[in-house]
This record gives sequence, structure tokens and C-alpha cells, in this order.
Amino acid sequence: MNTNTETIMPQSGSTFAPQVDALFFFIFYTALVLFILVVAGMVYFGIKYRQRGPETQLTSGTDHNKALELIWTIIPTILVIIVFVWGFKTYLTMAIAPRDAMELKVTARKWFWTFDYPEGFSSTNLLTIPVNQPIKLVMSSEDVIHSFFVPDFRVKMDVLPNRYTVVWFEATEPGEADLFCAEYCGKGHSEMLGKVNVVSREDYESWLAASQTVDTTIPLNKLGADLFISKACITCHSIDGSPLIGPTMKNLFGSTVTHQDASTALVDENYLRKSILNPQGDIIQGYPPIMPTFQSLLKDREVDGLIAYIKSLKD
Ligand code: CUA
Repeated sequence: MNTNTETIMPQSGSTFAPQVDALFFFIFYTALVLFILVVAGMVYFGIKYRQRGPETQLTSGTDHNKALELIWTIIPTILVIIVFVWGFKTYLTMAIAPRDAMELKVTARKWFWTFDYPEGFSSTNLLTIPVNQPIKLVMSSEDVIHSFFVPDFRVKMDVLPNRYTVVWFEATEPGEADLFCAEYCGKGHSEMLGKVNVVSREDYESWLAASQTVDTTIPLNKLGADLFISKACITCHSIDGSPLIGPTMKNLFGSTVTHQDASTALVDENYLRKSILNPQGDIIQGYPPIMPTFQSLLKDREVDGLIAYIKSLKD
């Protein structure tokens, strides 16, 4: 059973992953046994009572068998009750977060995840958490329906606009787990990927301390290049000239762009700043108005960094 768990299921990374797997395999093997019984019976009777010639009539006159009918009613009923009680208990465990859970706010947008920490800073597409600590996520979406899915933790929950949904889990070992969006949310859905980085308590504390300060020793364009990836800009904007969901950043600085209302503008520092903080203001012709604002997600120095980086993408 253990080998099967490892080959069929993703790695088991949370406290309730073994419970979910055990129930899954109970249902799976029960269904397998019933399937074999039904198909074997069907084949056996098909052969035994097949029509052997035009005159033969081998079908038995029996139309009732109380013992048999009781068996095939009672056994499945018991199986269904077991699945219900077991499933309901596991559901309750997964639905109710422990009181000492650490709470984070998750925001889904087309097409990236933002995690807000209680200490007052946020990260994009990378959720760093301490091991052996219950984590409660309060989630909402800024646009369409997304779904927070971490297979290793056996956790999946829809993330909706105008409403909060909650999941919790406790990671059992340090390492990296994949985060997927499991609800088709538009063109960038398959790119809406993240990681959950599970670290030891000490590593978490030092990571926290490092995350709360903006390192002013990093050169601006290096800071911008890192942010371009970590804030998921790269999902929609290429740096090599190819058009994605949004315009490419290659040779953008200094060029003249045409907006949807046919007005034109020269791309300078102020234009880039405005576009990052208020992307719905001017939409470049040929692109959908779907970029979310980064108003509360970037510090001033980080905006400066992105501008410096985009400037550096000029030939
Ligand atoms: Cu977000 Cu699919």
C-alpha cells in the first residue's frame, strides 16, 4: 500500500495528507474489488447462459433470492456509511483551523499570487512558512475565480472576488512544494504558478528579519531585474521583444506608444511609474486592460528599480 501511495500520489507534505490518502485508497480498492466481482459475474453468466441453438432455453425460472438481495444491499450500505463517516471526520479536520494558526492574507490576481504577512510586508508567488506550524490562509481574488492548490499538502480551495475563503495546513517537513491555480482564469492561467517554501523555525525568523528591510546596497537595475521575476511581471511582459499578454519591455523606454483612444505618449520615467501604479490609466493599443495595480505592492525604491531595469532593456 505504501509503494502505491508514493507512485500514484504526490509527496505527502502536510499533517492531513496521510488521512486524505488513506481514505482515497480505501475507496479506490473497494471500487476495484466491486468492479472485478461485477465484471467477473457478468462474463461468467454471459458464457454459462448463452444461447446455444435456436431451440434451447436454458434461462432459470428463479426470479428472487432473498439472501443474495440482502447481501448486495447491506454490504454496499455499510461501505457507504464508512466512507461518509471517515470523509466527514477528515473534512472537519481540514475545515477548522487550530486556534494557534499563523494567519496570512492571500490575494489572487490575473495571474499571480500575493502573500501578506502579519509583520506587514508581502511576497509574490513564493510563500515562505515555518515547518510544524499550522498556517491559516484567508484568501480573496481581485478579479475572477482562481483556486489555491498545493498537491503535496492535499489542499485546494477556490479563491473568489468579493468574498473570503479559508484553508489551513501544517507542513511536516522542510522543502519546496508546488502551488498551482486550479481554476481556469484566462490566458495566463497555466503560468499562475508559485512555490511554498517550508523552512525551519530559525530559518524563518532570519528570513523574516531580512524581508522587512529594503536592502539599499543592491544596484537599482539589479533590484528591478529581481522584482521583474519575483513580482511575476515576466508572466505578461517579455524582455526579448516577443509580444505576450502585455507589451514587451524590450526597447520600450524612449519609444512612442499609441493608446486605445489613438493618443500617443513618449515612454519616460514618469510614464513607466504611472503605468506600474495605475495601469488602467493608459492602455496601449492592441492589449487588453487587465494589468492589476502595484500601488500597495511596491516600495518607492522598488518602483525606481523596475524603471531602471526597463531602461536597461534598450539596445
Ligand atoms: Cu488563476 Cu487559473
